[in-house]
Amino acid sequence: MELLSSGVALQTVPEKYIFPAHKRPAKELVDSSVALPVIDLRGGRLQGDGRDEIVREIVDAGKQFGFFQVVNHGVPEQLIEHMVGVSEELFNMPVEEKAKYYSDDPSIICRLGSSTPYDQNGIRYWRDYLKLVCYPVEEFMHLWPQKPDKFREVLAKYIVEVRELADKLLRLIAEGLGLEQDYFSGGFSGGQTQMNVNYYPPCPDPSLTLGLLPHCDRHLITLLVQGTAARGLQAKFEGKWIPVEPIRNAFVVNFGHQLEIITNGVLRSVEHRAVTNTSVARLSIASLIMPKTDCLIAPAKSLINEHNPPKYKSFTFEEFLSAYNAAAANREGVLEYFK
Ligand code: SIN
Ligand code: FE2
Repeated sequence: MELLSSGVALQTVPEKYIFPAHKRPAKELVDSSVALPVIDLRGGRLQGDGRDEIVREIVDAGKQFGFFQVVNHGVPEQLIEHMVGVSEELFNMPVEEKAKYYSDDPSIICRLGSSTPYDQNGIRYWRDYLKLVCYPVEEFMHLWPQKPDKFREVLAKYIVEVRELADKLLRLIAEGLGLEQDYFSGGFSGGQTQMNVNYYPPCPDPSLTLGLLPHCDRHLITLLVQGTAARGLQAKFEGKWIPVEPIRNAFVVNFGHQLEIITNGVLRSVEHRAVTNTSVARLSIASLIMPKTDCLIAPAKSLINEHNPPKYKSFTFEEFLSAYNAAAANREGVLEYFK
């Protein structure tokens, strides 16, 4: 077992975490003058006049950035704080306790791991993580960590609320694109929900490392909560990286490949990455909403016409995942397979 969060702070960056010069974070420009739109869902009360405005804001943000933040979203703030709290506790547990959940086998439903090697040279990300399948709750709860004591209870409540928020956002998105309100509510969003709890310990030299390489998400939509201790997440915008400002208890929302395909490219799946910092451990909790594996993914009929031909072929989500896994080192180009 090899965890970065082993309780011993490293004074220098071990060789296997040092990225080749052309992959280091400073090779590309960071522009802190651009901020992602922050959309106020007004406590989740989405009736009346304000609704049209919120729909417009979401679609505009989706088209322009592929990313936005939501506040006043209706998920109880205390619950988010509990979820962040038990997650921090989990990574702060003694190594012997964490070892019980450690595995390198990606087929395991709930596992603690570290620093996925990003290529055959074995260079590793500066990140520990807990990956688990968390929805439907009844099916998977017994596989979640039993320690910290409250972990299962808090996660079970949290994920139900996050799913509700995802459904709400998907209805607003559908409305904004002129689709039926429940367009996404069947197979497109009805698969498993996975969760990645990411933990990036302080790094002696962030210029040499990355928490996560640039990537696009492969599923439908991601709802992410990040701790406020440090910046780390960056999204690609007009050829530069923009920092995603930590806002207490806000959700960062971004679109995966499936939403890009279903909307025939109207909403984009945008590249993002995680950089490290010297001072504090950074935590993020990503909930990944997946289509059912046998769900047929294709551009929505009402979004294609003779002037707007389909940009993607149709396929099942399972077929997509096979191609995605096979693409390994070239995942940025994975959408090409489906054109
Ligand atoms: C992600 O891309 O899934 C997470 C990035 C982050 O730590 O904010
Ligand atoms: Fe991601």
